[in-house]
Amino acid sequence: MTAAILVTGGGGVGKTTVSAAIAVTAARRGLETLVLTVDPARRLAGALGIAELGAEPSKVAEEPLLWAAMLDATSSWEAIARRHADPAVADRLVNNDLFAAATGQFPASQSYAAAEEATRFVKDGRWDLVVVDTPPSAGGIEFFTAPANMTDLIGGRLLRWLTGGKMPGRRFFFDRAARPAIRIADAVLGAGLFERVAQFLMDLRTTYDGIAASSKEIEGVLSTAQTLIVTTADPTPMREAIRFFRDLPANAQHPTSVIFNRSLPVAWVGARTADQDDELAANLARWSLESARQQRLRSQFSDRYSTEITTIDWKPTAPTDLDSLEALLTTAGGYSLENLWD
Ligand SMILES: Nc1ncnc2c1ncn2[C@@H]1O[C@H](COP(=O)(O)OP(=O)(O)O)[C@@H](O)[C@H]1O
Ligand SMILES: [Mg+2]
Repeated sequence: MTAAILVTGGGGVGKTTVSAAIAVTAARRGLETLVLTVDPARRLAGALGIAELGAEPSKVAEEPLLWAAMLDATSSWEAIARRHADPAVADRLVNNDLFAAATGQFPASQSYAAAEEATRFVKDGRWDLVVVDTPPSAGGIEFFTAPANMTDLIGGRLLRWLTGGKMPGRRFFFDRAARPAIRIADAVLGAGLFERVAQFLMDLRTTYDGIAASSKEIEGVLSTAQTLIVTTADPTPMREAIRFFRDLPANAQHPTSVIFNRSLPVAWVGARTADQDDELAANLARWSLESARQQRLRSQFSDRYSTEITTIDWKPTAPTDLDSLEALLTTAGGYSLENLWD
C-alpha cells in the first residue's frame, strides 16, 4: 500500500523545501518515493529535474528511487470539467462565458484539483510513499475541506446560487413565467442568454456523479495520510498553524508533527556574553534571546495542542540540491521525520 504524507502550512514557510527533503531522505532509505511539488524555486526544480517537465511523474536523475512531478497550482475548474464531463460537454462548458463568471466565485477548486491529482498518484500503487506539497491557497485547512465543499457546490450551492431554487429541469427554463428575472434579462440582453444559462446548468450537472465519487476517494486518502504542518516562529504562519488545529475537520488525522522550520540553534540559548563592547558578542546576545524566545514558543505550542514538534535549522544557504535537502532532516531536532515511514 502507498503511504501519503501531506505537507501544509502558511505561505513561504518552507513547505516545498521540506516536502523535497522528506522525499529525498525516504528514497535514500529505500522507499520508492514520489514528491508532488508546487511552485518550487528554480534551483530546487532543477535538482529534482522537473524544470521543464509537467504534471506526469518522472525519475530524478542520480536518485534511483525518487520521482517528482509538479502539481499544477493553476489547474482548476477547467481540469475538473475535463475530467468529469464528456469531451464535447467539457468543451461547451469551458467555452461558456458563464463558466468563467460562475467558477471565479469559488476558489476551492484549486485545492480540490490538487487533492484529486494527489489521490490519483496515491491510488496508482507504483510508489511506497507519496509526499504532497500543498498549493498556497490550500496551505491550511482548505485542502481537507475541499472534497466536501466541491460536492456540496456542484450538488447544490452553486446551482442554488445561480437559479435561486432547486436544480430545475430543462422545461423549467423554458417556462419563462417561472423566471421573471431571466425574462427581463432576456429582454435586455437578448434571448441567447437564456439558452446559455440553461445549457450551462445542464452541462455542469453532468459532472456531479464523477465529482461525488472522486470526492469520496479523496477523503479516504486524506483520512489515512500523515499530516505535517510547517511553520516558522513568526506571527502570521503561527496563526495559520493554530487555525489548523482549531478547525481540523473530523475526517482529517491529528497532525503527526508540527515542523518549526528556520529555527535558530538551541545551543545559542544562554550564549550571551558580558562583553557588550564587542559587536559580534552583542549580536550573539541578541540571537541568544531570539533563540530562547523560539524555544519557549515551541514548548508552549506543544503543550497547548499536545503535538510532536520537529525543529529544522535555519541554514545559511537555501537548500536546493539533494544532499543539502537530506541534511535538513539529518540535522533536525525533536520528533524525527524518519519515523514517518519506519
Ligand atoms: N531551513 C531552511 N534554511 C534556509 N532556507 C530555507 C529553509 N527552508 C526553506 N528555505 C528557503 O526559504 C524559501 C521559501 O521556501 P519554500 O520551500 O519555497 O516555502 P513554501 O513552499 O512554503 O512557500 C526558499 O528560498 C527556501 O530555499
Ligand atoms: Mg511552495
